Amino acid sequence: MENLDWKNLPFGYIKTDYNIRCFYRNGKWGDLEVSSSEFIDIHIAATGLHYGQEAFEGLKAYMGKDGKIRLFRWEENAKRFLKSADGILMERFPVEKFREAIFRVVQLNKRFIPPYGSGATLYIRPLLYGSGAEVGVKPASEYTFVVFVTPVGPYFKGGIKPVRMLICRDVDRAAPKGTGIFKVGGNYAASLRAGVAAKAGGYASAIFLDAKRKKYIDECGPANFFGIKNNTYITPKSESILKSITNMSLIEAAGSLGIRTERRRVPVEELAEFAEAGACGTAAVISPIARIDDPVKNKVYEYCRDGKPGPVTMKLYNKLISIQYGDVPDEFGWITIVE
Ligand SMILES: Cc1ncc(COP(=O)(O)O)c(C=O)c1O
Repeated sequence: MENLDWKNLPFGYIKTDYNIRCFYRNGKWGDLEVSSSEFIDIHIAATGLHYGQEAFEGLKAYMGKDGKIRLFRWEENAKRFLKSADGILMERFPVEKFREAIFRVVQLNKRFIPPYGSGATLYIRPLLYGSGAEVGVKPASEYTFVVFVTPVGPYFKGGIKPVRMLICRDVDRAAPKGTGIFKVGGNYAASLRAGVAAKAGGYASAIFLDAKRKKYIDECGPANFFGIKNNTYITPKSESILKSITNMSLIEAAGSLGIRTERRRVPVEELAEFAEAGACGTAAVISPIARIDDPVKNKVYEYCRDGKPGPVTMKLYNKLISIQYGDVPDEFGWITIVE
């Protein structure tokens, strides 16, 4: 096992031993290729560079107390990767090849999997981009798949901590019927100005509203939003947000914990009615929200007044992480062991 300061790792890039690549040329995907280089050779006219033909995924490998390595719902990431490819007319990376690539890259970098109890995990980043040369705006005829891993530290050092968020009214991340539902690079480029401005103001993230009417909550930077009232978990339905696998899982977990769930439009004013609120995604599972500021409307919404996450949030959080680390039986069939 690598001798890293696991508890203090950032959510950043650390070099590991190997990554895997695969190339689509002459109408077919080639074999997986293992590489120890962190660099890729790219054609100067690749569509991934010019026209944003790029999609990615993010999932994690968890080390259990029993020494087993667990992947959480990797098939959902594989399926979303297909959808993202379809969304920007890239060649699909087959689910079986995706499975083989992520399992292999985890096995090859076993010494970088953080130990159980450190709160750190091995983050897996598959990506796909148009590597064929085009000058006109059209899909490439060649594609490159890469998957690398990097150990990442606990999202909250020193325990899960409520954060502040800022409602963004001057930047739209994605338009209805645009690409917001796909995990493509362009959405993240579009979100950068809002994210950086929010962080500069001391907020964990920007909350985006629906681009058309600015009436409903869309999502919180790179995470889905949820609010809780009357023992009900409520999360936005929108045609411009990424369908979070964590969110889907929290909805299923809520069912088994006797918490009701609703996926529907969430008007901004409803923020005043929630007893708890949070953002969910692979990185943190849940970031409880302490406070949401809406400076343009001169409004502040406060939760977690005692500085601690709410009880429903904690129940859901504990349920999910205990399954991810294998502390409790996986009643949903979400875990695959990497042998
Ligand atoms: C825009 C956006 N929304 C939501 C999420 C959360 O999705 P997941 O739970 O699948 O990580 C992510 C992260 O992948 C994201 O980038």
